[in-house]
Amino acid sequence: PSGGSAPDTDLHAQLPAQVRSAGVLRIGSDLTYAPIGFKGEGGKPDGLDVDLAHALGDALGVQVQFVDAPFDRLRLGLQAHEYDLLMSGMTDNPQRRDGTDDQARKINEGLDFVDYFVTGTSIVVAKGNPQKVSTLDDLCGRTVALQRGTVQSVLMERQVGACQKAGKKLTVTETDTDDQALALVAQGRAAADLNDSPVAAHAVKNGRAGAQFQLAGEQLQVAPYGIAFAKEDTALRDAVAKALNRLIRDGVYDKVLAKWGLA
Ligand code: ARG
Repeated sequence: PSGGSAPDTDLHAQLPAQVRSAGVLRIGSDLTYAPIGFKGEGGKPDGLDVDLAHALGDALGVQVQFVDAPFDRLRLGLQAHEYDLLMSGMTDNPQRRDGTDDQARKINEGLDFVDYFVTGTSIVVAKGNPQKVSTLDDLCGRTVALQRGTVQSVLMERQVGACQKAGKKLTVTETDTDDQALALVAQGRAAADLNDSPVAAHAVKNGRAGAQFQLAGEQLQVAPYGIAFAKEDTALRDAVAKALNRLIRDGVYDKVLAKWGLA
């Protein structure tokens, strides 16, 4: 649907036999994260990840099928072979690669990544910034809300310790979706939500949960987004990496980024 790259028979041949015979790449994603991945008109998957996935599918000569799941369940689902890969604005970091982060401890295995974008974390507050937040330390003594299983959750775990040293309590409320965290901010039940910068910018621009928001402070912890694979799936990883390079060469990648205001 995103058009651009004709199937490359060479690349197709490099896909694992199981994907070739199915003719479809199953992609696990938490589709609650506009503009990265969300349910658009008629509940249809839409966003940066969805357009890139379709372009990758075009280049690889397979269909793509998005499977919606809560963000903190995606790794489990990948390991259970419910999908072939993950595209969910997922940050590629050493802890997720070597399996030493919290989610990995549960499933006891690291991920492999092909990076496709770079962004960071933003602090989102209600319009007018009623609780006067501009740094992480301003959160001490307050409540923050954020989506479970994210790098933001790890960042706030550390901040809880920093606040403790300063003799102040930071309360962290974890929600299933980022929308729920924003709703808590809108209701004044949390001082801030921490989420990925493109999602923060989108919420500021369009409003969310029936309320208006603004950014506070600087962008934090800039890092790559990666398409995630099970460690043993090296053939799939390599074919997708080559397909992505092709989209970059062909200009399809830039077009998709521009469409979502992320170029
Ligand atoms: N980039 C952050 C992470 O990897 C948040 C991603 C949340 N993605 C989502 N689709 N809700 O932890």
